[in-house]
Amino acid sequence: MSENLTLTIAQPDDWHVHFRQGAIMAQVVPHTAARFARAMVMPNLSPPIVTVAQARNYRAEIMATLPADAKFNPLMSLYLTDHTTRQQVTEAAAAQHIVGYKLYPAASTTNSARGVTRVSNIMPVLEGMAEHRLVLQVHAEVSDPEVDIFDREAVFIEQILAPLHREIPDLKIIVEHVTTAQGVQFVQQTGDQVAATITAHHLMFNRNEMFRGGLRPHAYCLPVLKRESHRLALRKAAASGSRAFFAGTDSAPHTRQSKQRDYGCAGIYSAHAAMELYVEVFESMQALEKLEGFASHHGADFYGLARNAGKLTLQKKPWRAPPSYRFGRQHEIIPLCAGQPIAWSIAGRDC
Ligand code: DOR
Ligand code: ZN
Repeated sequence: MSENLTLTIAQPDDWHVHFRQGAIMAQVVPHTAARFARAMVMPNLSPPIVTVAQARNYRAEIMATLPADAKFNPLMSLYLTDHTTRQQVTEAAAAQHIVGYKLYPAASTTNSARGVTRVSNIMPVLEGMAEHRLVLQVHAEVSDPEVDIFDREAVFIEQILAPLHREIPDLKIIVEHVTTAQGVQFVQQTGDQVAATITAHHLMFNRNEMFRGGLRPHAYCLPVLKRESHRLALRKAAASGSRAFFAGTDSAPHTRQSKQRDYGCAGIYSAHAAMELYVEVFESMQALEKLEGFASHHGADFYGLARNAGKLTLQKKPWRAPPSYRFGRQHEIIPLCAGQPIAWSIAGRDC
């Protein structure tokens, strides 16, 4: 009976998430903590998280949104700038809970104004990261407005990431939220120092979703949804069992007001149903047996961290995502699949 179908896997981790700060953070963190044992918290706040002290304070703010006995471990990423120093890298490597640096090409996405203007300017810092085994998490898109937005990932990989990998082959690199067949191929063709995270929404939708029945700001994220052939390449990679691909939701909450306006923000909020949607995707690919590796093992292995000992049980029992999550006095987040049925539920955790 399909209603009784359950799936128990090692507790998963979300290797790419945005929590923000303040009231919106208090709204979203419990969704992630209810599903994942750990999460890799992105540092693109305003101002960005660039120092160990800032990361420590931010982590404490995150933990303060949860009950004191919550079993959730946020892992922190620092924001690379043109001014990051080797000394800072050494300090980051020694700090508990900091496992990587996020490379935002300047002007590529939300709060990337202080990102890196030329990767060639920060080579000594990247060499320091390789020495210390810190992971480079890359927003792999060029920000050149002359380049077609659908080509920005492929161009970045060809012009910047592939040469960087050849130059520093020991540097662990993650192509964050990979969206293209070219990105998948790059990861597959390089050795085990290069991996990629894949979001649920890029596995579920192609670019038509942004225009289905009218312009849909809540389906707009960066890297932008791509054509169907790319979605199929991502699905094949996720279901392949390759250790180079793992879950990273890129859950990126913005208020309804900041998405539905001239110059709406990029970001899809998926933390409320992240594992439920991943399992639905794997079921649709007849690859349920590959979910545990993708969601619970490959990321920890790549980062050189222990796999989680706890378990998460999912059940094929439908529920309906709310049309919005209201918080504060007048704000709301419109989640992925707002108001729509979701086939799987969280049935329990043992951690
Ligand atoms: O859609 C996105 N939202 N892509 C990013 O790269 C950043 C993120 C955010 O922080 O809103
Ligand atoms: Zn992100």
